[in-house]
Amino acid sequence: MRKYFIAGNWKMHKTVAESVTLAKDLASGLKDCGEKIMIAPAFTALSAVADAIKGGSILLGAQNMGPEEQGAHTGEVSVLMLKDLGVKVVILGHSERRHAYGEDDALVNRKVRLALSHGLETILCVGETLEEREGGRLEAIVGTQIREGLAGVAPGLLDRVTIAYEPVWAIGTGKTATPEDADAVHAFIRTVIAGLYGPESAKKLCIQYGGSVKPDNVAQLMAKDNIDGALVGGASLKPETFVPIAKFR
Ligand code: PGA
Repeated sequence: MRKYFIAGNWKMHKTVAESVTLAKDLASGLKDCGEKIMIAPAFTALSAVADAIKGGSILLGAQNMGPEEQGAHTGEVSVLMLKDLGVKVVILGHSERRHAYGEDDALVNRKVRLALSHGLETILCVGETLEEREGGRLEAIVGTQIREGLAGVAPGLLDRVTIAYEPVWAIGTGKTATPEDADAVHAFIRTVIAGLYGPESAKKLCIQYGGSVKPDNVAQLMAKDNIDGALVGGASLKPETFVPIAKFR
C-alpha cells in the first residue's frame, strides 16, 4: 500500500514554547500513524522542535532556505545551518515566497539544487493564480515552474523531490480545488516529469496537493490516483485538525 506524505507548514506562527507544545502533541497523536509526516515550524523554533520530536518518526522541515551555502547574506538561513539542526526536508518556491517576496523560478532552482546537493529532500511548490487559471494559462505556468525549478537536477536525485501543487487561489481561502480538478493538474504534472525524466520517474514521483486541506476534505482528495499527499497550512497549527488529516484512513 502506498504511503502518503502529509506535511504541515506552520508559516509565521507560534513562539518556541507554543511550537514545542504542538510538536509534542503531534508526536503523541501520530505515534501509530503509518504515513510519512513532516512539520515545518518557523526557523526560530527548529532547534527546540527537533528536540521535541527526537526519536520519533516525524520529519523536521524548514519553510525556506537561502540560495548560498554561507557568506555575507544578511537575513538568510543556510542549508548547512538547517542540516545542523536536523532538518530533513525543505519547502521551496511556496507561492507566498514567489508572490510576496519576488522569488522567481531561477532563484527557486538555485535553492532546489543546493538543498539536493546537501542531501536534503525538497518540496517544490507550484501553482497558478486565479487570473492565470481563468486566462487558460494553468499548464504554461505550472509547466514552466516545474521545468525551470528542476533545471539541472540529475535523474538520480528526483527521488528526493516532492512536488506540491498549490493553486494560489485555494491557499488560506477556504476554497479547495475539487478532487477531480486537482487530480487533473497532478496528471499534467506527471506528463511534464515524464517528458523530463521518463515515465517510470513520473509514476514514482510524489505529488502533494495543498490549499485549504481540512479533516473533512482530505479523504476525497487522497482517494484520487495522482494525489500522493498533502501540504497543509492553517489546519496544521492544531492537533485537533492535523492529526485527523494525517490519519484520514
Ligand atoms: P492552507 O495553506 O492549508 O492554509 O490553505 C497551504 C499552504 O500554503 O501550504
